[in-house]
Amino acid sequence: MKGIILAAGRGTRLYPMTKPVCKPLLPVYDKPLLYYPLSVLMQAGIDQVLVIVPPGETGTFSALLGDGAQLGISIQYTVQPVARGIADALLIGGDFLAGEDVCLVLGDNLFWAPDLAGVLKRAARDNRGATVFGCYVQDPKPFGVVEFDADGRAISIEEKPSHPKSHYVVPGLYFYRNDALDIAAGLTPSARGELEITDVNLAFLRRDQLQVIPLQDNYLWMDAGSADSLLAAAQAIHDLQHTTGQYVGCIEEVAYREGRITRQQLHQLGSQLDMTAYGRHLLAL
Ligand code: G1P
Repeated sequence: MKGIILAAGRGTRLYPMTKPVCKPLLPVYDKPLLYYPLSVLMQAGIDQVLVIVPPGETGTFSALLGDGAQLGISIQYTVQPVARGIADALLIGGDFLAGEDVCLVLGDNLFWAPDLAGVLKRAARDNRGATVFGCYVQDPKPFGVVEFDADGRAISIEEKPSHPKSHYVVPGLYFYRNDALDIAAGLTPSARGELEITDVNLAFLRRDQLQVIPLQDNYLWMDAGSADSLLAAAQAIHDLQHTTGQYVGCIEEVAYREGRITRQQLHQLGSQLDMTAYGRHLLAL
């Protein structure tokens, strides 16, 4: 399985902050937003990642992460020329995937759970078509909303419904078998002019190959697409790190824990950042 991060939005809801700096490069507390989705892919056990960036931004992203060798993984970059929706990421990533299955994550989504690495690895291993998650939110209207039957099986998903059938929404993290690419290729744009990822999920639902894993109480999922949610995400990460002592989205630590780099390599990365609590955290591992 390979990973794709869709980080190609212009972030217009964050203007003027995102005029000079792309949204995924903005800070969320003590690290760039992009670290969070990258750490998710790495915890799923993925070591080949494609980052889809806005036109003209390959240089800024690769200045941050390079080719991934320092993390013991491979990172490539490509551009989404026109914002055509989330499902377009599957088409853009077709050559990169070369027939393999994919985990797609949105560049502004943050996740934390006590055993997130275990949850993600099981989702990747058990995926029979599409595997997504269900998160309880107060206001589901801006999201893809999933309805469950009495046995907990997903029976419908609706994109931004005006009358949501539940409070469970699908966050921006999707595991797909490679035939998702054929489904994406057959989609027509929605009323908002996008290839909807919900339509890909619905195609798997109709084939009885969609699994929706409800995330239970003790987890964090946030998207950081507006000034308020960016601030809330930073505060949540700060609070979580200070109360648990764990770091969220710490790609160097994840690389070490996943066995991609040695302790010595981890400490080399930490010593470059030893003027920060982040760097000292790496050195203490
Ligand atoms: C997109 C998806 C939606 C999903 C959400 C998660 O919404 O279309 O199904 O619930 O991401 O962040 P958008 O960001 O395009 O409004």
